[in-house]
Amino acid sequence: MREGHNNVIYRQDYLPPPFWIDSVDLTFDLDPAKTRVLNKMRVRRNPDVPPQALRLDGEELNLARVLVNGQGTSFKMEDHTLVLENLPEGNDPFELEIFTTCAPAKNTKLMGLYVSNESFFTQCEAEGFRRITYFLDRPDVMASYTVTLRGDKTKYPVMLSNGNLVEQGELDDDRHFAKWVDPFRKPSYLFALVAGQLVCREQRIVSRSGKEHLLQVYVRAGDLDKTEHAMNSLMHSVAWDEARFNLPLDLERFMIVATSDFNMGAMENKGLNIFNTKYVLASQATATDVDFANIESVVGHEYFHNWTGNRVTCRDWFQLSLKEGLTVFRDQEFSQDLAGEASARAVKRIEDVRVLRSAQFPEDAGPMAHPVRPDQYLEINNFYTVTVYEKGAEVVRMQQTLVGREGFAKGMALYFQRHDGHAVTCDDFAQAIADANPESPLAQKLEQFKRWYSQAGTPRVRAEGRFDEASGTYTLTLSQSCAPTPGQATKLPFVIPIAYGLVAADGREVASGMHVLTEASETLTFNGLQAAPVPSLLRGFSAPVILDHDYTDERLLTLLAHDTDPFNRWEAAQRLATARALKAIRGGGEVELDAPFVEAMRTVLRHPTLDAAFKELVLTLPGETYIAEQLETVDPQRVHVVREAMKEQLAQQLFADFEQAYEQNKDTGAYRPDPVSSGRRALAGLALAHLCLAARQSGDTVWPGKAYQRFKDAGNMTDRFNALTALVTSGHPLAAEALQRFHAMFKDEALVIDKWFALQASAPDRGGNVLPVVKQLMSHPDFNIRNPNRARSVIFSYCSGNPGGFHRADAAGYVFWSERVMELDSMNPQVAARLARALDRWKKLAEPLRTAAREAIARVAAKPDLSNDVREVVTRALA
Ligand code: PHE
Ligand code: ZN
Repeated sequence: MREGHNNVIYRQDYLPPPFWIDSVDLTFDLDPAKTRVLNKMRVRRNPDVPPQALRLDGEELNLARVLVNGQGTSFKMEDHTLVLENLPEGNDPFELEIFTTCAPAKNTKLMGLYVSNESFFTQCEAEGFRRITYFLDRPDVMASYTVTLRGDKTKYPVMLSNGNLVEQGELDDDRHFAKWVDPFRKPSYLFALVAGQLVCREQRIVSRSGKEHLLQVYVRAGDLDKTEHAMNSLMHSVAWDEARFNLPLDLERFMIVATSDFNMGAMENKGLNIFNTKYVLASQATATDVDFANIESVVGHEYFHNWTGNRVTCRDWFQLSLKEGLTVFRDQEFSQDLAGEASARAVKRIEDVRVLRSAQFPEDAGPMAHPVRPDQYLEINNFYTVTVYEKGAEVVRMQQTLVGREGFAKGMALYFQRHDGHAVTCDDFAQAIADANPESPLAQKLEQFKRWYSQAGTPRVRAEGRFDEASGTYTLTLSQSCAPTPGQATKLPFVIPIAYGLVAADGREVASGMHVLTEASETLTFNGLQAAPVPSLLRGFSAPVILDHDYTDERLLTLLAHDTDPFNRWEAAQRLATARALKAIRGGGEVELDAPFVEAMRTVLRHPTLDAAFKELVLTLPGETYIAEQLETVDPQRVHVVREAMKEQLAQQLFADFEQAYEQNKDTGAYRPDPVSSGRRALAGLALAHLCLAARQSGDTVWPGKAYQRFKDAGNMTDRFNALTALVTSGHPLAAEALQRFHAMFKDEALVIDKWFALQASAPDRGGNVLPVVKQLMSHPDFNIRNPNRARSVIFSYCSGNPGGFHRADAAGYVFWSERVMELDSMNPQVAARLARALDRWKKLAEPLRTAAREAIARVAAKPDLSNDVREVVTRALA
């Protein structure tokens, strides 16, 4: 049936629930075709709300029975909603019993209860619980859960739910049961169950308080050898949250379960986190350093939700960043703290900022721009965005910057003291941080600071410096502005913490500090300087803004050589590279890298003390999406060609330096995914890619040969995949053979096969060769569009990860995109809507791409029975 057409939901319309559900007792008879769900709730009227009918959410359920206090009752259906009008009066609790069935095997949306590899899994955030039973499926209704699972003993030997296992036993017909009680009240989106043939790695730990806990990681039988890193990451997470925020593990038992069919990365269900296998399984043979690092941060992220999200949850879904922004901030801090040394912390910071600027800044400048706390949505699934997550994390980080690290920990303590066990808002969070630090600039400017939650768009800060020789005075004028975004024509000034330093031409630091910019324009004055300094602004990326300053090459080279802030050192190199890319793109497309730039890159590459990881970041040119954002109109193919040409020139001119970097870093000893050896592998990989690229022009066969040899001999997936990538991206004939071998070697490792697909779909386009490859890949026997990881590895890698190959002048990429969006929409709207966003920035495209893109979007928009998810994305894009 077609969903309602205009069901936009507004934050301002929030009303407390008319009923509370104090407890839920669920019994499941698990059967893939028809699972029976008995739901017994204790319900009472909310005395603060005028008496009204109880309206329970439900979706794709078969309703068999409704009883109130054990008696049949009248009810009606309004669309998907079960409406009960004749409920007992007064405020006493009553028992409501609802019996329904659902069909997990037919659940292709992967929301609610579904089957994957013959096992049962659930996904309830945001609104999946209503696909399991009728309920007040909103986060401010928190209940105590008791769950009984019943199922076949052989097919479902393991049956898990939230909390503690309190009873289990045999039933007739080769069935058994398990009864779970969650000691904490929770919103329905944190409910979970898992049942299937799973095995687990176990670990007992004793927390600081002396309590014992059982940690478990559940996977399919063949995958047990790939769970050690996830378990270590979990143990580190527990210890870190105790040490840094005094937040202990509050459960006797904490479980992680991996599934290969999952829409997102992972889910923080209370005591029973469910993960995409991608963020659990790792061995040195099958996972890269990046995979290891992602696992650490996602395991941390979900674990940290146990406090920030679960103990204190969101009042409504507009407050999503309350838990997500805060928890991303926490996982970023966790990874930095584990990385240890200052230089490794800086590398992590640079990587996080790179994600923010290449994904969130474009979102904030496009049709889907929304505040960190959105004001409206049609489909909440569309708001699990880089803005809510990554920009939200920056907004929390700025609060820490404004109150200091200790002040922030105090603020967190106050937040839990006030709100533990409750469903609250972003305002409540900021208020707690400010109240714990009454003297801080945050407290003094709290109302203004909160514009970061309410105003969308990336602010720009323009910095202008003037040096007066006679008086030795340097004045720095900082002005802020923010472009309009959909529904927000004008913006008021933000509170922008700007960490800065002034660097003399010889590299000495002559001043440093933190300025909190609150007005539209402010001027800082520095006295007693001998010469004009070079300003190093926004150190550590102290605010999520675009910094405009007319840097000369000379000044950027000074910063690259001398800045004490590693972030701005890297940033200086990025600015130098971006300027060269933009000049070539705006000109005829010719690239001619100048000697000072090349020499600066050489100096970094040969630097005796800089970390390999940092060198790799500096030598990696800004991404195509980032470069495209700096342009008014974009021809993505030209951006691609220019960036490739820059890479080739660096490869040729730094050939000997890359050779040296490769030789020095290629052997990292016994595999450990730590920051230092990962950094060395990353630099060796980058060097090898450049050496193969240089060979492409020169016809040299030595380096491609070495890459192929390394591909065969490598002792870990990072080195092996880097070698394969070097062959594929340089377009060498050996690539085909290597790809074939790789597939044969790893044909039973789904996550590795995902990499194999993704590498081919995101390969540099040469004369339009990628789309035909992508189409071929889609008819490969291993391809399956219903598996989100596989769909992402082929379709998303091409449409979102390969601008040069996707934005074809003949529009064939767009046709392919529109067909895939519509195909996916009929089975998994959430995944389809993410793909739909690949053309978000169509208005920036140069003709004829722009017109072709609009037509493709319009074709999708015209499809009958489009999901709310995709409709929201394409309607906004066309507006
Ligand atoms: N809450 C999850 C997280 O960020 C993300 C998620 C959202 C997963 C919706 C599934 C569905 O940790
Ligand atoms: Zn999260």
